[in-house]
Amino acid sequence: MDECDGKCGTCAESDACTDPRKDMEMQAMKVSERMGKIKHKIMVASGKGGVGKSTVAVNLARALYDKGYKVGVLDADITGPSVPKLLGVENERLLAGSEGITPTDARGVKVISMALALSSPDSAVIWRGPMKMAAIRQFMSDVTWGDLDFLIIDLPPGTSDEPLSVIQLIPDLSGAIIVTTPQEVALLDSRKAVNMVKSMDVPVLGVIENMSGLRCPHCGEVLDIFKIGGGEKASEELGVTFLGAIPLDLDVTPLGDRGMTFIDQEGDTDAKKSFEEIVKRLIEKLDG
Ligand SMILES: Nc1ncnc2c1ncn2[C@@H]1O[C@H](COP(=O)(O)OP(=O)(O)OP(=O)(O)O)[C@@H](O)[C@H]1O
Ligand SMILES: [Mg+2]
Repeated sequence: MDECDGKCGTCAESDACTDPRKDMEMQAMKVSERMGKIKHKIMVASGKGGVGKSTVAVNLARALYDKGYKVGVLDADITGPSVPKLLGVENERLLAGSEGITPTDARGVKVISMALALSSPDSAVIWRGPMKMAAIRQFMSDVTWGDLDFLIIDLPPGTSDEPLSVIQLIPDLSGAIIVTTPQEVALLDSRKAVNMVKSMDVPVLGVIENMSGLRCPHCGEVLDIFKIGGGEKASEELGVTFLGAIPLDLDVTPLGDRGMTFIDQEGDTDAKKSFEEIVKRLIEKLDG
């Protein structure tokens, strides 16, 4: 195919261009235009699965919204999306208008996720890397995010396709939050996640140690289930900020299953108090 000289006129009249390279260029322009309207773009990553990234991402989004910020969540976990479920909007479906795809409103927080585009919650997305990257790119280029203070990007575990796509697509990422649990097997993978982010010149905003001890609901004693403190020690060794620790809390899972965040819970729980500290430290870090 000849180099596109932009003279066929098709793209001047509509978004449909017959040259795929021109199409990509236009999409890249749309990504930078849409992302340019968002002040802080933060990815939430981990080395190991199931450590609480999505829980942290949605609670962070809600906490920031409660502070008066305009917030969106981009669920970059294409094959295992869980953000809509955790924010109680899993039965909503995406709507497309002339300006683009409208993100779903989760009590004020804008959400985009593959789960909102599937015909059923049990449908499987069986895609290789380039397809996942195309979906993430479209979540950035075609979604009418508008002006936001924060876009929280929830990633699947590991250091491959999705984090790479996000880093490549958003050159001015504010940084990454790495979530870990305190046991050695998780920390090993977390060090890899930190090093991957560093090697791609993305700032590490900090490490969060999740599932850090459990206060016994009967006697009040804190049980050291996964070795409290490993995340903080690893942060020191890696020379990155430790944002704080969130304890295991027996209410977190049932709340998440009902589409509710633990920071919106009545009363002061240990998890809520520690999360508030984490959000405070994060904002200070971003402002500083
Ligand atoms: N502090 C906590 N206390 C109790 N349960 C928690 C806590 N944090 C997360 N969980 C529970 O652990 C499970 C995994 O959490 P979550 O889905 O957020 O992890 P994830 O890192 O996003 O997983 P994946 O790698 O599959 O995307 C969920 O059931 C969640 O409710
Ligand atoms: Mg997740």
